[in-house]
Amino acid sequence: MRLRVEPGASLSGATRVPGDKSVAHRWLILAGTASGRSVLRGLPDGLDVRSTAACVAALSGSEALAAWASGPSGDLVIEGDGWAGLAAPAGPLDCGNSGTTMRMLSGVLAGREFTSELTGDESLSRRPMERVAEPLRLMGADVTTTDGHAPMTIRGGALGGIRYELPVPSAQVKSAILFAGLSAEGPTTVIEPAAGRNHTEVALASLGAPLEVVGNAITIAAFQHGGFEGDVPGDPSSSAFVVGAAAITGSKVAVRDVGLNPSRTAFVGVMRRMGVRVGEQERWESLGEPAGVLEVDGHGPLRGTIVSAAELPLVIDEVPVLAAVAAHAEGVSRFEGAGELRLKESDRLAGIVYGIVGMGGDARIEGDTLIIGGGGLAGGNASAAADHRIAMALAVAALGARRDCFIEGMEWAAISFPGFVDMLVSLGARAETT
Ligand code: S3P
Repeated sequence: MRLRVEPGASLSGATRVPGDKSVAHRWLILAGTASGRSVLRGLPDGLDVRSTAACVAALSGSEALAAWASGPSGDLVIEGDGWAGLAAPAGPLDCGNSGTTMRMLSGVLAGREFTSELTGDESLSRRPMERVAEPLRLMGADVTTTDGHAPMTIRGGALGGIRYELPVPSAQVKSAILFAGLSAEGPTTVIEPAAGRNHTEVALASLGAPLEVVGNAITIAAFQHGGFEGDVPGDPSSSAFVVGAAAITGSKVAVRDVGLNPSRTAFVGVMRRMGVRVGEQERWESLGEPAGVLEVDGHGPLRGTIVSAAELPLVIDEVPVLAAVAAHAEGVSRFEGAGELRLKESDRLAGIVYGIVGMGGDARIEGDTLIIGGGGLAGGNASAAADHRIAMALAVAALGARRDCFIEGMEWAAISFPGFVDMLVSLGARAETT
């Protein structure tokens, strides 16, 4: 699917974004392994979350979850039989394009007394899996990868707690170890090199799990949670595209009911440094996750910024859209220590550079630093590179170009944001897919 974006439109109004993908993966796993009834509202229907739902349905035998995974989205009511209610699936667990699904499920499966195989699409089969296999082996699970990648086979069993320092910051690996720790004998401690998103810890603490956080060390012990109710807040990473669109077009836009967990909103600080006025108001909370409104006033000049290697893990998923904004700023922007972006759904450093250069801008990579020249985009052609966040970031960048832009592969947005183009158009963007 090809997107044509006509420049010059001004945006206005308020919108919502789909439910938080990160939160939804975790709450689906927790609902499928709860002892009792859970009710989840506001689940996003992006393809990644459906992958998690389908895998948990295959493990738990939940018909409600299987129906949700393949049918129209909506509220989900599910009866869980606890960790012990999971059983060997009939076939391989297909995680699709979703690294979060594969890595977090590995942690769940490590403590189960059966063998399962995890597979994924072409992109997921290229991503590193030893980072999750290694700590799970240390806990006692039998985990094999295919040259460090999927397919992975996990023969679970009795686990022992470990103390593990993550070599690279990864909320997915941290969560996998914490999930495994819920079935392990003795305490399990994960130490993060830098604080990352904490949705697993927030949910487990809200469910009464014996979780302790001291600085960057998180300790968990064996626990069986009960059923729960939750309203998934809007995805802050998806809202970043709306904030970016308002910044680039000099518009005033609001995003309602969006998650405001501070471990996800560091991009707001970066946008503010670039000259974007963003107001943040908390309105409600669900299972420990705060949510509210982001109000963006994009009037005024944008200036380049430096995102240091220390700050980068906190905006890891927002780098593509921050780069889109940087392309329209005055001066050079630098994203330092950004090497992990090469290991996402695509090589995002390459995708950003090709996209921005293809649309007439200035971007390059030096070592692990992404450098965006600023000064605007002339217009031109770009590719989503089979990556949802690259697709959406380039669409947003195109809004401020001097001439039309064409983006190939816009259908990839549906991985996390079905209806993304319609949302932009509803705010006033001039864009159409062919
Ligand atoms: C996620 C963690 C991050 C992020 C991904 C979602 C999560 O990945 O990039 O989109 O939900 O835990 P890493 O764990 O590889 O940093």
